[in-house]
Amino acid sequence: MAMSQISDEELLAMAFDITKNSYAPYSGFPVGAALLLDDGTVVTGCNVENASYGLTMCAERNAVFRMVAEYGPNHKIEACAIAGRKAAPCHPCGACRQVLHEFGCKRVIVESERPDSSGTEDNVTLGAPESIDFEKILPYAFGPEDL
Ligand code: THU
Repeated sequence: MAMSQISDEELLAMAFDITKNSYAPYSGFPVGAALLLDDGTVVTGCNVENASYGLTMCAERNAVFRMVAEYGPNHKIEACAIAGRKAAPCHPCGACRQVLHEFGCKRVIVESERPDSSGTEDNVTLGAPESIDFEKILPYAFGPEDL
């Protein structure tokens, strides 16, 4: 979806919203991610689990792979917002940090502690967005520039 201007709050809300499509019957932990691309496009993804648990794919990587499939490999990621339906904050796992770095992700946006953390309803009030610079999320990263 092409967006002209989007706030961190809106990007986080889009990450939360896509958790409605998560397939998480084993963990019961739906996660959503929303990528803001360099041209203002937003790409979302959700986690997809598997009966052979190890094949589960996180929301963030599904969003990145969807970005490449839909828009090609030449975009940079300005920011990645992440929201867990049942818990806040939800920080990206190590594997997702590495994949986000591949496409130049500059910031990760997570939810601060939620006012009512018990909410699983669609209309839950999200905590305020917290922006974290990528150098802090993945210091001494290995990436395409190192080859
Ligand atoms: N998960 C994500 O999708 N992203 C994260 O940042 C943390 C973990 C998923 C994987 C699994 O489906 C569930 O959350 C519990 O680990």
